[in-house]
Amino acid sequence: MRLRLKDNVKKNIYLGLVFLILFLIAIFSIKSIVTMVKQKNNIEYKLEKHGYSEDDVKILVKNFNEKELDNLLNKKANKNITKFIKEKYYLKKNLDKYLTYYENNMDLTPTLVVALINTRSNEDWYTNPKDADTSKNNLLLVNKFNGLKEDYEPVLIDVSNWYSYGENNKLTEETYNAFKDMFNAAKADGLKIIATSCYRAYASQKRIYDTDVYQYGEEVTNESVAKPGFSEHQTGLAIDVLAPGTALSNFHETEEYQWLLNNAHLYGFILRYPEDKTNITGYAYESWHYRYVGKEVAKFIHENNITFDEYYAYYIAK
Ligand code: DAL
Ligand code: ZN
Repeated sequence: MRLRLKDNVKKNIYLGLVFLILFLIAIFSIKSIVTMVKQKNNIEYKLEKHGYSEDDVKILVKNFNEKELDNLLNKKANKNITKFIKEKYYLKKNLDKYLTYYENNMDLTPTLVVALINTRSNEDWYTNPKDADTSKNNLLLVNKFNGLKEDYEPVLIDVSNWYSYGENNKLTEETYNAFKDMFNAAKADGLKIIATSCYRAYASQKRIYDTDVYQYGEEVTNESVAKPGFSEHQTGLAIDVLAPGTALSNFHETEEYQWLLNNAHLYGFILRYPEDKTNITGYAYESWHYRYVGKEVAKFIHENNITFDEYYAYYIAK
C-alpha cells in the first residue's frame, strides 16, 4: 500500500516535470516567432540586412524619418552617409551634394567636403550669385556667391586720421568704435595698427578691379580682388590694416600682425581670408584684411578655426 502511494507520487512528479518542460518549450517558441516577425518588419533589422553596420543604423535611425529610411532601402547601401552625419557642420539639405562631391574627390576629407559644399565653394565663382542679405547687419555675408546692389551704401562715419592713412576712410559706427578700442589696446602694448582701406563704394571697387584685370588678367585678379558688388569693403565692416613702414604684402611679418592673430577677436574682428582657407574663401591669403562681425561671433570663429563663410552657412542661413 505504502509502496503504491510512493509510486503514484513519483508518477505525478514526472508528469509535472514533463508538462513544465513542454510549457517552457511552447513559451520559448512563441517568443522566438514573435521576435522573428517583429524583426522582419523592423527598420533597423532591414537596414542591417541591407548592408549598414549596427553603429550606422543607430545614426541613421536618429537622423532620418521613416520615409527617408525607407528610401535608403531602395538604394545601394552607402557607408559614406554616416561619415557626413557625424560631421560638426553637417546640413541635411546638402547630404546628396556631399555624397556626389566626395565620390568624385575621394582625396578630400569629409570635413572639407562639408565646408566646400556648405559655402558653395565647389561652384564656379559669380555664376549664380544671390542678393546678399543686408538685414543681417554685422553678419552680412558678401562673397563670390552673395553680392550687393550697385547703390548699396551702409550708414557710415568718417575715420579720423589718428587711426588711418589716406583721406576719406569711412566705416559703420560700430565697426569704427570696435576698431578704435583695438587700436588703443595695441597701442598700450607698444604697437600701431593703422586702417588704410575701409569702405569702398561700388565705383571705387570697379576702378580697382578693372585696373587689376587690365594689368594681370581676369583669372589672376579674381584670386585677390572682388568684382564690384562682391567686395566686403562695400559693407563698411571691413578694414585693411598696416603697421608703420610696412606694405600690405609684408604685414604678416610684423608684430602687429601677431598681435591681431591673438587679439582681434576680442574686439569683434576676424582675419577674413586666412592662408589655409583659400579654397573656402575664394581669395588668396590676406594678412591685412579684417572683418567686423561682433565679439561673440568673432570669438566663435577664432576658437573653432572656421571662416565666416562656413559660420554663415551653418548658423545663419541654415
Ligand atoms: N581684396 C578683397 C578680397 C576685396 O577686393 O574685397
Ligand atoms: Zn580688404
